[in-house]
Amino acid sequence: MGLAGEAEIRGETSRMETIHTVEWMKQVTRQARAEGRLVGLVPTMGALHQGHLSLVRAAQQQCKPVVVSIFVNPQQFGPNEDFSKYPRRLEADSALLEGLRVEYLFAPPPAEIYPDGFRTYVNVEGVSERLEGRSRPGHFRGVTTVVLKLFEIAQPHFAYFGRKDAQQARIIRQMARDLNLDTEIVVCPMARESDGLAMSSRNAYLKDDERRAAIVLYRALDAARQEIAAGERDAVRLLAVMRKVLNAEPLATPDYVEIVDADTFEPVSRLRRSCLALLAVFLGSTRLLDNMLVEEVEGAGSSFRVSL
Ligand code: PAF
Repeated sequence: MGLAGEAEIRGETSRMETIHTVEWMKQVTRQARAEGRLVGLVPTMGALHQGHLSLVRAAQQQCKPVVVSIFVNPQQFGPNEDFSKYPRRLEADSALLEGLRVEYLFAPPPAEIYPDGFRTYVNVEGVSERLEGRSRPGHFRGVTTVVLKLFEIAQPHFAYFGRKDAQQARIIRQMARDLNLDTEIVVCPMARESDGLAMSSRNAYLKDDERRAAIVLYRALDAARQEIAAGERDAVRLLAVMRKVLNAEPLATPDYVEIVDADTFEPVSRLRRSCLALLAVFLGSTRLLDNMLVEEVEGAGSSFRVSL
């Protein structure tokens, strides 16, 4: 089945409402809460793909109404990043969400979110400064600021994020805990193309040869997965395996390759408890992320479950 049309196939008509103002979005979700309904929020920057739609389906399992926000947040882009060329496809995105029978699309103009005189930012210390935070200074401050605002506006009981942006999900969970937010953060599995490439709106930037080369991220993680299956637990040796695969691809320039504790995001020297192998790699000017979750299986000696 294509991306759209699941509801049509079930013979249902779509009734999605698109909301552009903070005031109306607040009223709608406050009313839903007052009626005792569970509100789910899927925050996105649009250019929706199957990864986003899997978050929507996860939200629909738990919540009604589901709100999907589409807002390309200027605050999370650095001065030399891709804010102006970031794909904007509101009409196509809206059709996809209607096809899934989403109740509300929240698509505010920038001035609704950042009116003149805006001055307040949210920063999660420590984990925001590593990895993505080091490569993209200010990025996570922009993410947490807009996500907190979206939570205040939509008042969701549950909010859904993808594991592809594992550090983002960890930071948002920290913010929710530190600020006693009434929103539970749900982190959903990776969505991949059939050849293994992690789904991302930025994949649309890749030229044909870069798109072919981009599966090197998945191949690097898969090579580490095979080593773990064969008994390797040493992080330095696993990193060397991943770097070797990446270095063999001439179109790929790694930004970072790390294995970290999934809670603290500090590097580990050996696999333990719950770890993430994280990659950020340039294909031409496009920077792609991927990761693999490695979790110790309790009561099974030194056995690890790997989720790619
Ligand atoms: O993951 C994203 O698309 C964005 O960082 C988010 C969470 C929608 C905030 O702008």
